[in-house]
Amino acid sequence: MNYRHAFHAGNFADLVKHAALLQVLARRPAGPLSIIDTHAGRGLYDLGGPEAQRSGEAAAGIGQLMRASDLPEPFAPLRVAVSRLNGGGETRLYPGSPLLIAEALRPGDSYLACELRPEEHSALAGAMKGRAGVKTACADGFARAADLPCEGEALVLIDPPFERADDYARIVETLGAIGRRNPRAQVMVWLPIKDLETFDGFVRDAEDVGAGPLLVAEARMRPLADPLKMNGCALVFARPADGLDGVLDAICAWTVQALGDRGQARVWRAG
Ligand SMILES: C[S@@+](CC[C@H](N)C(=O)[O-])C[C@H]1O[C@@H](n2cnc3c(N)ncnc32)[C@H](O)[C@@H]1O
Repeated sequence: MNYRHAFHAGNFADLVKHAALLQVLARRPAGPLSIIDTHAGRGLYDLGGPEAQRSGEAAAGIGQLMRASDLPEPFAPLRVAVSRLNGGGETRLYPGSPLLIAEALRPGDSYLACELRPEEHSALAGAMKGRAGVKTACADGFARAADLPCEGEALVLIDPPFERADDYARIVETLGAIGRRNPRAQVMVWLPIKDLETFDGFVRDAEDVGAGPLLVAEARMRPLADPLKMNGCALVFARPADGLDGVLDAICAWTVQALGDRGQARVWRAG
């Protein structure tokens, strides 16, 4: 396992994922919510560190977003969160999904953040220390998704690094398991878009395990000419909250237009 999210934190794909996540959390059900983040990362990223400086991805992502004058409203909660984290000054720190989720928790909610790499988990545990309702586990997040309560409101974020060939199959298996365990659970999956065959195959497999109807949001950053490149990203939602279609459309459209190169945004339903 070589993937380190510090190289990619704050890139276009994080912006789509995190802006959408904050919109999902804003539409949360009224009762207590159980959240599992299967692939949590370290929770907080230093954009002045060598990884972010070397890749330049944050500069081309959150750096642009913080300066944009045409940002659509659905990005506002992310911009506020990043600005607050940086004390209103220069963007040196970027929040991962754990920090965004932990900030949105209400009394009675519970949040389990799973991270398999011990050094990443150690940083995550530090970032989450002292927060009520939050637990972290240095564990396989796919397996721990089965810890979801069988009843009540639940949300699962699945955001693997896709460095293993079986990541797609494990997501599909986990979608099926979550649906059987708690049929109310909302699931949000992040995926790279390389070629359409792989992506469409995943959507079909997800429907086949009964995860549908699905809401799909795609930010294709460039024409899908080279299947070896990450040409964009997608979010796939099982049992999505009402009112997400329009905000996802605005998030993907701005990302593609402002940060992409002849790309295309699409929001559609499957199943
Ligand atoms: C894309 S990053 C997560 C980013 C995070 N969700 C966010 O939005 O800030 C994927 C993370 O999953 C971790 N990981 C890889 N395989 C895992 C597994 N089976 N279970 C839990 N974590 C895993 C990697 O070490 C990496 O930190």
